[in-house]
Amino acid sequence: MTAPIPVIADRPGRAGTVEAAHGLPVPSYLEQDYWWAYVHPRAVHLFEREWLVNAILFGNYARLRNLALAELGATVHGRTLQVACVYGNLTSRLLARLAPDASLEVVDILPIQLRNLRAKLPHDARVTLTHADSSAMALADHSVDQALLFFLLHEQPEHVRRGTLAEVMRVVRPGGKIVVVDYHRPPLWHPMRPLMNAVFRRLEPYAMDLWRHDIAAYLPPGMAPASAGKRTWFGGLYQQLVWIR
Ligand SMILES: C[S@@+](CC[C@H](N)C(=O)[O-])C[C@H]1O[C@@H](n2cnc3c(N)ncnc32)[C@H](O)[C@@H]1O
Repeated sequence: MTAPIPVIADRPGRAGTVEAAHGLPVPSYLEQDYWWAYVHPRAVHLFEREWLVNAILFGNYARLRNLALAELGATVHGRTLQVACVYGNLTSRLLARLAPDASLEVVDILPIQLRNLRAKLPHDARVTLTHADSSAMALADHSVDQALLFFLLHEQPEHVRRGTLAEVMRVVRPGGKIVVVDYHRPPLWHPMRPLMNAVFRRLEPYAMDLWRHDIAAYLPPGMAPASAGKRTWFGGLYQQLVWIR
């Protein structure tokens, strides 16, 4: 018997039910390119170690996590959307900042990742875990106050990345905030550039897109944020975008 999937479907009256969305296949890029990181049952066991995530980010995990959280506020109000689960404690730290009447929705396409996140979080009625594709979310237009995308976009093929950004722009309300943390093209002199180049070519087939283009280039035509801020970190290997919708 398959274990029940502790995923809360985003349907009125169903909060708290244990249910995965039907007819939602694992995207082929996750099956083919990222099975080792997210899909395989042993992936969670292997990667759910903060020291390993930190090592993959050359010791920058806490810094990048804290930068993202700082943008959302010391106290996070309203409805926050986290697009995709992450290894480590980003979500529990975010949850710790939620105002009593605030809510957090985490959307992910992999039940195994949602299950893992559920196991890491304390029970809290303010949090909803939803099994859905980031490029087709069942959230109403302008229903979210802020959205966070932490190292997601470099893993998505261009058409999915475009779909995710279009969805985020659709669901975040005008004046709401979108925070993106991801890879960025480092300068030629960056000591990690050759290594990251090799890693991307071997393991992360879509990541080089973020070295070639600004993330804003993947927004739908004519849909620019009202304001856009960008900072780079660790000599330019990482970027943080803050868009006001
Ligand atoms: C956020 S990214 C990587 C984050 C970072 N490397 C970490 O520490 O976990 C990984 C997550 O993105 C999810 N994901 C990838 N494509 C998705 C999609 N189209 N819709 C929703 N979730 C997606 C994967 O299932 C996985 O849980």
